[in-house]
Amino acid sequence: MHLIVTGGSSGIGLAIAKLYAGRGARVSLLARHSGRLEQARSELAAVSNVDPSRVQVASVDVASASQTLDAVALCERAFGPCDILVASAGIVEPSAFDAMPAAVFDEQIATNLLGTANVVRAVYKGMKARRSGKIMMISSGAALIGIYGYSAYCASKSGLAGFAEALRAEAGVFGVRISVCFPPDTLTPQYHREMPMRPAEAALLMGSVKPWSADAVATRIVRGLDRGRARIHFGWSLTALAYFGPLIKPPLMWWFSRKMRKINGQGQEVSLVDAVDGGFDRGT
Ligand SMILES: NC(=O)c1ccc[n+]([C@@H]2O[C@H](COP(=O)([O-])OP(=O)(O)OC[C@H]3O[C@@H](n4cnc5c(N)ncnc54)[C@H](OP(=O)(O)O)[C@@H]3O)[C@@H](O)[C@H]2O)c1
Repeated sequence: MHLIVTGGSSGIGLAIAKLYAGRGARVSLLARHSGRLEQARSELAAVSNVDPSRVQVASVDVASASQTLDAVALCERAFGPCDILVASAGIVEPSAFDAMPAAVFDEQIATNLLGTANVVRAVYKGMKARRSGKIMMISSGAALIGIYGYSAYCASKSGLAGFAEALRAEAGVFGVRISVCFPPDTLTPQYHREMPMRPAEAALLMGSVKPWSADAVATRIVRGLDRGRARIHFGWSLTALAYFGPLIKPPLMWWFSRKMRKINGQGQEVSLVDAVDGGFDRGT
């Protein structure tokens, strides 16, 4: 079995790669920085029973469609057709929308959403022709609710949810399984970079839920892949948000707007009725 993981040099992607390497899969890790890729390759080789010749790395920026296509072709030539793709490459840079340079907004969309489309495009045709294959897109709990300071990230991750659902409708008949997962805060290098930048307003809405370990998130994702799950959720609050969002979000956003007005001492009163009607953001 050949697993390709973008963002495989770190965090959730690397933890998933370790689980498959432990099962004897041939593993291709894709990311930008070759130093971190080599380090990840050594970590994988250290997993018991893993033959180092069954792990390869490729340096690529998934935001580039041509680089991604070439890297995947190279990986498939060496290890055979891709059986499972995990698209985990992602970045986050929180900031209020009007304080965020356009380039920073665009980079999050280019990496998280378009980067995923690029790598899916690179494997999908082959999977469809072989009538088998699995694709897992790593979205985020941030796809389930709009979070202050995360306009680009939420847009990219909720975009992935729509992409996965639409592609699943196309791919099922060809035996290709498309899945998407919505991880919570997870202890990875990205989390540690993000925390100092997380606006207080976002922390207020997100509360103080303990972050998951990358291993726990990876185990759940791999179990979901084994079972062919379309969507994978984590923890009761994100699962509730996923299934009952239209009921939960209006009062939550109403509460958030009241808190914000209290903190800022300004802004417009929003009635709960307005919030339930979806009028929270209207502002007139
Ligand atoms: N950690 C969390 O709390 C959390 C929660 C929900 C969802 N997620 C999502 O889970 C995924 C993995 O995140 P993580 O926390 O494991 O982060 P991480 O430890 O920072 O790993 C991110 C990986 O993506 C690679 N990457 C970033 N930009 C890339 C690009 N343009 N092209 C190719 N590779 C790129 C990184 O390597 P290079 O920098 O060398 O390219 C690295 O291997 C992301 O999509 C993230 O949004 C994370």
